[in-house]
Amino acid sequence: MIINVKIPFAYLFSTMVQALSHISIFILVLISYLTILNEGKIVFFSVRHVHIKNNLGVGINLQVHCKSKDDDLGVHNVTYGGDYQFQFRPNVFGTTQFFCGLAWNGILHYLDAYIHQRDMQRCDPDCFWTIYTNQACLYNFDHPSQDCTLI
Ligand SMILES: *[C@@H]1O[C@H](CO)[C@@H](O)[C@H](O)[C@H]1NC(C)=O
Repeated sequence: MIINVKIPFAYLFSTMVQALSHISIFILVLISYLTILNEGKIVFFSVRHVHIKNNLGVGINLQVHCKSKDDDLGVHNVTYGGDYQFQFRPNVFGTTQFFCGLAWNGILHYLDAYIHQRDMQRCDPDCFWTIYTNQACLYNFDHPSQDCTLI
């Protein structure tokens, strides 16, 4: 059984206009959403700078190799007293982590240089690691003091 319903043209027209205005609102929202995208990442957390300073001793070179799940920052040779720095924008999910291999005198050590859940406050916008022969210390702006961890 086929029911033939006649829809008045005026009604159809106004429904179409309404639908179109919904679509244009949707497009507006989409465009404003896209404008807050920056380099493919949603602007939600500010850019962080992580500094790693070689304080191993005169004549000892530090090789730093930092990686996240998505980025490999390559190997950098830092002379005594020198500072290596990298920067990034944490992802919108707050799961960004950077791990660094630290090598000197032929021995490899590891440092969790940035773990978003741990460091989002103390690394906003900068944090400063100093590498000693037995520990890595993060400068604490609040106290001020150093928060050290064995490496
Ligand atoms: C690091 O730099 C120093 C000074 O330029 C250099 O003597 C040393 O060979 C370099 N080490 C590596 C592994 O590139």
